[in-house]
Parts: sequence; C-alpha cells; structure tokens
Amino acid sequence: MAVERTLSLIKPDATKRNITGAICKMIEDAGFCIIAQKRVKLTYEQASRFYAVHKDKPFYDEVCVIMSSGPIVAMVLEKENAIADYRTLMGATIPSAAENGTIRKQFGESVDKNSVHGSDSAENAEQEIKMFFNELEIIG
Ligand code: CMP
Repeated sequence: MAVERTLSLIKPDATKRNITGAICKMIEDAGFCIIAQKRVKLTYEQASRFYAVHKDKPFYDEVCVIMSSGPIVAMVLEKENAIADYRTLMGATIPSAAENGTIRKQFGESVDKNSVHGSDSAENAEQEIKMFFNELEIIG
C-alpha cells in the first residue's frame, strides 16, 4: 500500500476541552506520524473557503461559525493508506453512530461538535494540506 498524507483538524469543541493531547495519542497509537502541526484560529471567511465543498448544504453556515469559534490544531498525518485509515480512526460523522475505539465515539459531542476532521480523498488531502502548511513546515 502507498504511503499517503492526510490533513487532520482538531476542532474548537475539542481544543476548548483540553483534549488535544489525548486525540494526538490516539492518532500516534494507531500508527500515524504527525509530520506537521500548528494551532491556529480561522476567520469565518477562511472556514468558508475550507468547507466550500459543502456550500450548498444546509449546515454550511453553522459549520463555518463553529470552525471559526476558537482555536483548532491542524496536522499532516503520514502512514500507508493514511486517508482511509484516518477516516476509520475518526469514526462516523455523527458521534453516536461511531464505532467503539474511534475518536468521535470517545470525544464527539454532536454532529457539529464532532472533535475532528479528516480529508476524504487524495485530491482533497492535497488541497487541504496546502491551505494550512507550506513545504518547509512538513517534515516527513
Ligand atoms: P467534517 O468531517 O469536518 O465535514 C463537514 C462537517 O459539517 C462535519 O464534519 C460535521 O461536523 C458538520 N455537519 C453538520 N451537520 C452535518 C450533516 N447533517 N451532515 C454532515 N456533516 C455535518
């Protein structure tokens, strides 16, 4: 299997609860290398650009408000099959539907406050990583 990179975001609901370290431990324990990491606060406009793929969805405005409501931690994760494997580790979008052992099952509060985001395809991973990191900041 090919080594891949994916973008992970720890969302404001999780940074507010001081569980950044606990989430990073789950990520590392699952075999991912965190090869870039930064704590940032998005503006509403930056969140809107990040979630542009959802612009026609009814939850678009709310997710942009929530994602710009506090600090987030952005990371590039590297591992074989990282994109699909990180989505498995995150669990279902709705935390109550997520499997045991997943990040969202353990820490997610609601569909809006589901603690983490992960890229859903190779194309989106490349674009999303570029939104947060330049080449010099990614140390594989
Ligand atoms: P995320 O994986 O970051 O991608 C889009 C986010 O929109 C999603 O996680 C949820 O937090 C949020 N969201 C809110 N309502 C919905 C919904 N009905 N379906 C999917 N995502 C939703």
